[in-house]
Amino acid sequence: MQSVDVRIIQGDITTQEVDAVVNAANSALLGGGGVDGAIHAAAGPELLVACRAIRADSLHDGLPVGQAVATPGFQLPARWIIHTVGPNRHAGQTDPALLESCFRRSLEVADDLQARSVAFPAISAGIYGWDPEAVARIAFRTIAEFDGGVREVRFVLFSERVAGVFRQVDRLTRSSQQE
Ligand code: APR
Repeated sequence: MQSVDVRIIQGDITTQEVDAVVNAANSALLGGGGVDGAIHAAAGPELLVACRAIRADSLHDGLPVGQAVATPGFQLPARWIIHTVGPNRHAGQTDPALLESCFRRSLEVADDLQARSVAFPAISAGIYGWDPEAVARIAFRTIAEFDGGVREVRFVLFSERVAGVFRQVDRLTRSSQQE
């Protein structure tokens, strides 16, 4: 089990110089608000063209919740964007396994791309209404259980509030692992 260097950063995920940036998308894969909107704005119009092509080729019904698919990063510093669809609490999607699948499938897609560094936002912790602490717990557990080629994972949190939640959960997770 190779160790993964986990970093918690307060900032804008679109500026991260990593191999792959994970986008908290929706099933339509055609952009939106929040981090999805920021990534599309920063990556440029070619991203929407690539997403439309994926929809036409292989995802006629959209990207299912918990699944992940990659596109190039276009104008982002990151080489790849891995789009995943988190569970929407407002739609009754409260099963933690769905969110765990987002993190795990994104890491598996990153591995397939031979990406060594991956930046995650707080998937589902915005418009989709999940509690950031629950998201952090699932994220850290999934990273700890992942066995692949990714060497660095960054959690890039837009607000200091959510960054603080992730740091607190990380401390609690590490201390419980030492007991
Ligand atoms: N960098 C990092 N994190 C960001 C950024 C950014 N530039 N912009 C927003 N965030 C944070 C939000 O503050 C939140 O903590 O990302 C987290 C996820 O929030 P959303 O982007 O709302 O994603 P989610 O809750 O998964 O909802 C997905 O929102 O944007 C639409 O098209 C998207 O329909 C989908 C839904």
